[in-house]
Amino acid sequence: MKTGVLVSGGGTNLQALIEATSNPDFPAEIVLVVSNRPGVKSLERATGAGIDAQVIDHTAFADKRTFEQAVDDAFRTAGCEIVCLAGFMRILTADFVGEWSGRLLNIHPSLLPAFPGLNTHNRALEAGVRVAGCTVHLVSAELDAGPILIQAAVSVHQDDTPESLAARVLVQEHVIYPKALAWLATKRVYVAQGRASIRDIDHQLGVMVSPASR
Ligand code: GRF
Repeated sequence: MKTGVLVSGGGTNLQALIEATSNPDFPAEIVLVVSNRPGVKSLERATGAGIDAQVIDHTAFADKRTFEQAVDDAFRTAGCEIVCLAGFMRILTADFVGEWSGRLLNIHPSLLPAFPGLNTHNRALEAGVRVAGCTVHLVSAELDAGPILIQAAVSVHQDDTPESLAARVLVQEHVIYPKALAWLATKRVYVAQGRASIRDIDHQLGVMVSPASR
């Protein structure tokens, strides 16, 4: 399944997707990476892996509609059937989201619906949560909402800073994003009443307690 990735920055999630999809048995192939910002490391990661990379700079467009039209054209021309947002820092309009409905994935560094939006890790620490994590979800018009496909949890340590927590969560982001893409690419994701279910999950994990008790 031809897949496009939309980025704005460093692209460690893009890298995880590149590594997973480079396995010939993986059911999706990245054919195009689009960045709305020039000069970001994601572009190097893509071209280094032999993947077409394009800059579509939002500041060069009169409005959001024409920017999104250009992004949409690029992915369609490349034959993409799925688009993954990977650290894409602009909010997409309901029109774009509607065009790609059911085929547009996002990763967010919290256990949604907790802490949508920016400064996620700061807010998690301020709230005093003991468990944090990340979520891959289908994109809906509402920010960081939409049916959840997969989440991973990590414990919050007493001495965590937003940076140390972000680093622990990021490791798990790289684990779960390829899994969600594989499920979508093999048409194993069903959505009903705003909730996703995955067909043929091979196993379910148990409970996580944080702080751990002995
Ligand atoms: C990740 O934490 C992702 O969840 C969020 O933006 C960050 C992007 O990091 N949406 P990277 O560019 O993939 O390294």
